[in-house]
Amino acid sequence: MTAPLLEVSGLKTQFPTASGVAKAVDGVSFRLERGEVLGLVGESGSGKSVTGFSLIGLVDEPGRIVEGSVRYEGRDLVGLPTSDLRRIRGKEIAMVFQDPMMTLNPLLSIATQMRLAIAAHERVSKAAARARSVAVLARVGIPAPESRLDAYPHQFSGGMRQRVAIAIALLHRPKIIIADEPTTALDVSIQAQILTEMKMLVDEIGMAMIWISHDLATVSSIADRIAVMYAGRIVESGPVGAVLRDPRHPYTQGLLDSLPSRTRPGEELRQIPGTTPSLLNLPQGCAFAPRCPRADDLCKAVPVESVAMDRTYRCHHPETQRSAA
Ligand SMILES: Nc1ncnc2c1ncn2[C@@H]1O[C@H](COP(=O)(O)OP(=O)(O)OP(=O)(O)O)[C@@H](O)[C@H]1O
Ligand code: SF4
Ligand SMILES: [Mg+2]
Repeated sequence: MTAPLLEVSGLKTQFPTASGVAKAVDGVSFRLERGEVLGLVGESGSGKSVTGFSLIGLVDEPGRIVEGSVRYEGRDLVGLPTSDLRRIRGKEIAMVFQDPMMTLNPLLSIATQMRLAIAAHERVSKAAARARSVAVLARVGIPAPESRLDAYPHQFSGGMRQRVAIAIALLHRPKIIIADEPTTALDVSIQAQILTEMKMLVDEIGMAMIWISHDLATVSSIADRIAVMYAGRIVESGPVGAVLRDPRHPYTQGLLDSLPSRTRPGEELRQIPGTTPSLLNLPQGCAFAPRCPRADDLCKAVPVESVAMDRTYRCHHPETQRSAA
């Protein structure tokens, strides 16, 4: 059996703070196969971005990975020297951020930025870099890319800037793209366009992608598999259709029930009661217990390990009847 493209095992990333240690990622494990799209969802602060940053060694100081491994094509990226990580980052694993200005430099033309991004990994002539940049910009839907190439980031709309950032991520045809809420800041129609285009690109190029989002609807339209995060842990994962049709974990069920599409006209929007726990002081048992309608003494006292069958979930009392109900 060949190794998965990416295999994350027991990953823990922590931030020491004046009030204690924030366990932002607390034992995350998952696999990503070639060409697969994994949707990583959860409420704000659940550890989605820190998970993404941890994969490619971009955790902000003083945060650090304290345990676990990130095997990319069999090789552990945790603890790899920065020079080795730089060779992989941008070339084999690229990241697209919610704010395209995390990728773009406001002072340089797009042509210069794309040329520098190519030159970071390959020696090519200026003319070849230009031709490749034009081709990639066209591919992400930038109209008249030849003439737009010499423009500066502020001369593009928000949606077009995000397309340019995606184009830069695609320059080296990476094997994995980590997309951290790339459409969240855009208006709904542009979101839908970029989502559709990203899905087509992934299929065409055969890239794998980790699509990070708090929006289940977006994830359901792009992902093959889904991993639901709560308080730094994956609480449920599996094929996207199966998980959304038949969620086993009360948190996944709560997220689904909160979707506006599940509410009838005139009905009040449902939401999960309570708030996410402080990562400095997680409950002793299940972290979701204070908000869970099914919590009992076992849940409050005993930590939950992940149950791995056809799907994985972390729950003492998983729902098994919902689809039949
Ligand atoms: N630089 C930092 N210093 C201290 N703690 C941090 C830092 N970055 C992240 N954290 C901690 O990690 C937690 C998870 O952050 P993360 O950004 O991964 O959440 P997220 O799921 O991406 O949320 P959002 O949907 O808002 O983007 C935060 O709630 C915070 O406690
Ligand atoms: S372990 Fe208990 S508290 Fe946690 S999600 Fe399952 S039923 Fe709810
Ligand atoms: Mg985030």
